[in-house]
Amino acid sequence: MAQDTQLAGKTAFVAGGSSGINLGIAKRFAAAGANVVLISRSQEKIEAAAKEVSTFGKPAIGIAADVRDYAAVEAALKRTFDEFGPIDIVLSGAAGNFVAPALGMSANGFKTVVDIDLIGTFNVLRASFEFLRKPGASLISITAGQATRASMFQAHVCAAKAGINMLTQCLALEWGPAGVRVNAISPGPIADTEGMARLASTPEAEARVKSRVPLRRYGTKDEIADAALFLSSDAARYINGAILPVDGGSGCGDGAGDALLGLGA
Ligand code: NAP
Ligand code: COA
Repeated sequence: MAQDTQLAGKTAFVAGGSSGINLGIAKRFAAAGANVVLISRSQEKIEAAAKEVSTFGKPAIGIAADVRDYAAVEAALKRTFDEFGPIDIVLSGAAGNFVAPALGMSANGFKTVVDIDLIGTFNVLRASFEFLRKPGASLISITAGQATRASMFQAHVCAAKAGINMLTQCLALEWGPAGVRVNAISPGPIADTEGMARLASTPEAEARVKSRVPLRRYGTKDEIADAALFLSSDAARYINGAILPVDGGSGCGDGAGDALLGLGA
């Protein structure tokens, strides 16, 4: 197969890149020829991830940095710029989740998820601006269906991801004139991820989730990576401020109407 060179000579910064969906995206960026810098909290995990990403033949660096710590994020971005020059792609995907009713959640529990997901995304995108290729950079945040659909035991995530959607579109407005595009990907339930291990931890729960997806299956990390590569590519040059669902149609409805009519899975 011909080598993918879509991102040859470009540099990508991936926040929350030590595992799961974001690591899958980082690998796709590297496979398309980009230099990749990854950050996450754990030095050990992020170094291992960078090693995996570097097997695609381009330099990859893993840096321990918590997205809640603006100075640490800024230092990682500066190091990326010093090493590779202007940054072409920023992916902000660090997140935390646990399943708990609002009454089973302390103020700090709620704040922790908002801090990682929403404030963390602000920190990553805001701190990146100075180091971006302008015009031309593509910024992508990772949101979720909870941003637009209230979900039981997910008040913290729903609030945080709703904020990410609006933040993404506000930055698209403000930074579009500088030639910087800001979009989001909203994955549906994705197989073999920490997120789904937490949200659907039994085979019964998994079957229930799949029955609500119009395509009747989980998505794959590769399918999210395909969308991230598209949004980072020249083919998406006029796409700005989009919240792109990659969810098998999950966002089209909640199945409640079908249930009322006795239809459904
Ligand atoms: P994951 O493997 O747990 O990925 C989360 C990543 O964020 C890890 O690399 C983690 O690494 C990092 N991280 C967590 N807190 C951090 C912090 N404070 N600072 C820096 N990095 C931090 O989960 P995933 O399921 O693949 O989810 C990835 C993204 O997709 C998330 O934004 C999630 O909301 C979104 N999403 C997932 C699904 C799904 O089906 N899984 C569906 C919709 C949306 P360390 O532990 O090393 O810090
Ligand atoms: N139910 C209720 N509250 C919970 C909880 C749960 N299952 N898990 C954590 N919390 C609360 C803690 O009790 C604490 O509040 P307190 O100080 O009032 O007791 C608060 O959340 C912070 O917990 P802590 O463990 O100190 O946070 P952390 O910053 O070390 O970790 C988490 C962040 C909690 C989100 C952790 O689950 C995490 O690291 N997740 C990353 C991986 C992940 O979630 N992947 C899926 C992405 S979709």
